[in-house]
Amino acid sequence: MNLLDALLGEHGPLRHQIDALKLAAPNLGAAELRAAALALAEGIESHATLEDELLFEPLLASGRVPAGPVEAMLQEHRQIEALLGDLLAPAAEAGRGDPQRTVLRLVETVRHHFDHEENVLFPLAAGALTAETLAAAGERWAERRSVELRPPISAA
Ligand SMILES: [Fe+2]
Ligand SMILES: [Fe+2]
Repeated sequence: MNLLDALLGEHGPLRHQIDALKLAAPNLGAAELRAAALALAEGIESHATLEDELLFEPLLASGRVPAGPVEAMLQEHRQIEALLGDLLAPAAEAGRGDPQRTVLRLVETVRHHFDHEENVLFPLAAGALTAETLAAAGERWAERRSVELRPPISAA
């Protein structure tokens, strides 16, 4: 499986989750927002970790794409982690701004980030890395996600 297809597939449910969070947020108190952010954080952070390790760092090391766009994606991962960290901070530390505004910033940052990956970075990677490299990275993705890739079952 091509790693880019796997990462694109992960964007689908994450987009649904952040859209649901944006809809629900105005009716949630601070503690409920933290619980919702906690549920979202694992999915977003594990996705970003796999992207860093399996795609962005090898892409930078290949020297086959300009470093700027890849470094911008890595930096956006850190921004998203910081926003999630603000939302998850215990109430005593919650003097870090209005959690409702932080949720809105998180939603907009993640949406923009996914758009940028899907429209710029993934096509750039598809042009710079061979199909074999992307397939091998897809196998590592499957191992990390504990899913077994199987060949198609023939109907004959
Ligand atoms: Fe990303
Ligand atoms: Fe992504």
